[in-house]
Amino acid sequence: MMKEMRSDLKPLSLNKQNHIFVKFAISFLLVGLAFRLLFSDSFRFPAVVETPPLKEVKTEFPLESLPVQTPDYVDFPGNESQTSQKEKCDLFVGDWVPDPSGPVYNNVSCRVIEDHQNCMTNGRPDSDYLHWRWNPRDCELPKFNPDKFLDLMRNKSWAFIGDSISRNHVQSLLCILSQVEQAIEVYHDEEYKSKIWQFPSHNFTLSVVWTPFLIKAAISEDINGVSSSEIQLYLDQLDDKWTNQYKSFDYAVIAGGKWFLKTAIYHENNTVKGCHYCHGKNLTELGFDYAYRKTLQMIFNFITSSEQKATVFFRTTTPDHFENGEWFSGGYCNRTVPFKEGEVDMKDVDIIMRNIELEEFEKVASIGNESRVVTLKLLDTTRLSLLRPDGHPGPYRQFQPFAEDKNAKVQNDCLHWCLPGPIDSWSDLVMEMLVNGR
Ligand SMILES: *[C@@H]1O[C@H](CO)[C@@H](O)[C@H](O)[C@H]1NC(C)=O
Ligand SMILES: *[C@@H]1O[C@H](CO)[C@@H](O)[C@H](O)[C@H]1NC(C)=O
Ligand SMILES: *[C@@H]1O[C@H](CO)[C@@H](O)[C@H](O)[C@H]1NC(C)=O
Ligand SMILES: *[C@@H]1O[C@H](CO)[C@@H](O)[C@H](O)[C@H]1NC(C)=O
Ligand SMILES: *[C@@H]1O[C@H](CO)[C@@H](O)[C@H](O)[C@H]1NC(C)=O
Ligand SMILES: *[C@@H]1O[C@H](CO)[C@@H](O)[C@H](O)[C@H]1NC(C)=O
Ligand SMILES: *[C@@H]1O[C@H](CO)[C@@H](O)[C@H](O)[C@H]1NC(C)=O
Ligand SMILES: *[C@@H]1O[C@H](CO)[C@@H](O)[C@H](O)[C@H]1NC(C)=O
Repeated sequence: MMKEMRSDLKPLSLNKQNHIFVKFAISFLLVGLAFRLLFSDSFRFPAVVETPPLKEVKTEFPLESLPVQTPDYVDFPGNESQTSQKEKCDLFVGDWVPDPSGPVYNNVSCRVIEDHQNCMTNGRPDSDYLHWRWNPRDCELPKFNPDKFLDLMRNKSWAFIGDSISRNHVQSLLCILSQVEQAIEVYHDEEYKSKIWQFPSHNFTLSVVWTPFLIKAAISEDINGVSSSEIQLYLDQLDDKWTNQYKSFDYAVIAGGKWFLKTAIYHENNTVKGCHYCHGKNLTELGFDYAYRKTLQMIFNFITSSEQKATVFFRTTTPDHFENGEWFSGGYCNRTVPFKEGEVDMKDVDIIMRNIELEEFEKVASIGNESRVVTLKLLDTTRLSLLRPDGHPGPYRQFQPFAEDKNAKVQNDCLHWCLPGPIDSWSDLVMEMLVNGR
């Protein structure tokens, strides 16, 4: 069914000749993006973001006095012989298998779930989507161990850098860690998009830095994601919002993606070089792929040449699951079980983005410099996430959307993930990569 649905995109395979055509076709699909919602970090309306989620956190830590576990992670950050033993296993190839045990937190035990991702509270009627775990084909993936993680993170700092999906991920991690210690929010920016939390009994600092393009960008959007003018992107300057703080990070998860699909004017070397999807502007259409590739090259170059020897996970693009329409044209996602491998094709935008990500990552990874101590890892969650059409809020991004009217027309969210939900497994993968040096 999914395959059929996408047959309109199928002819646009990605060889050189029709690559340009694909860019334009995609632009048309995304026509609404310039002026509203979805990738604008959006799915967020004023009332919601402004609720500081950690308001009622009390400064008492009942778990503080738990015995510290004996460290069974002595091979951290990676013992060569162990690494080679495990090289065979690709953590990102596998299946979702039933997991009766279910999530380790819920809407009551975790207090930081943003309203738009709080599917349980919002009244999502089915719960099967909570009972799956990611099972890599050739190895075991242990469940995230919050005690072990927090012990590893003693005196350390960890940042999530990117857009609203990075925020989705940090909330998932906060919820998982709340089994051991509740975080205290110590900073938020004006819009509650960038935040810093402390885990006092572990002296661990966790932060999320909102920088949807990762490069310097002038974004003039109001709270509803309505733009008053085109986004100006500076393709030769990273966003100093994250680079200025980079020297304080021991670990980081960096991700880019969907924002690059928006209408934008591209600047380079102090001149306007072209644009993406800017009709009537008499500028060269360079394609979002041009900007995305330049951005990744700059990021990887920055990381590998930085004095700060952080461990960086670069996460690949995240797929959406709008069916029978896009987010702005009535698309929805009401599946209740995962896909099996081969049951679904990646959308063309995701193929293009992920290919750029893999190519640029491969370039840095293959440089091979023994004196380089920075660790850069690929967190390739695209395919495994693609198999989870059942994990999105859909209409349950709103509280009880059908309470008054069974046939109410509501905006669906088929991009962000319910909490708890499939995004929790991203942290299982991070933990495994961390502990076993994959
Ligand atoms: C790596 O692990 C092996 C056994 O698993 C051990 O013999 C060796 O000493 C370790 N090397 C380092 C550098 O820790
Ligand atoms: C949590 O979700 C359940 C439904 O799964 C709901 O009945 C309950 O009211 C929610 N609790 C809170 C605190 O929102
Ligand atoms: C954390 O920092 C404190 C104070 O500097 C130090 O006493 C302690 O040994 C450190 N712990 C770890 C695991 O590095
Ligand atoms: C907390 O960790 C920082 C390093 O990130 C260290 O400088 C500081 O001394 C630690 N504080 C305590 C109380 O352990
Ligand atoms: C940037 O522009 C200056 C002139 O303004 C020019 O001399 C220089 O070669 C340009 N650099 C690049 C990389 O295009
Ligand atoms: C578009 O730009 C080109 C070169 O910058 C210029 O020659 C041309 O006259 C412009 N066309 C319009 C319609 O402004
Ligand atoms: C999803 O919604 C469509 C259209 O409303 C409906 O035909 C289909 O049966 C629904 N599927 C599920 C699993 O609810
Ligand atoms: C390896 O990295 C070091 C430190 O970043 C640098 O000085 C050196 O030039 C690099 N060597 C190669 C072959 O790239």
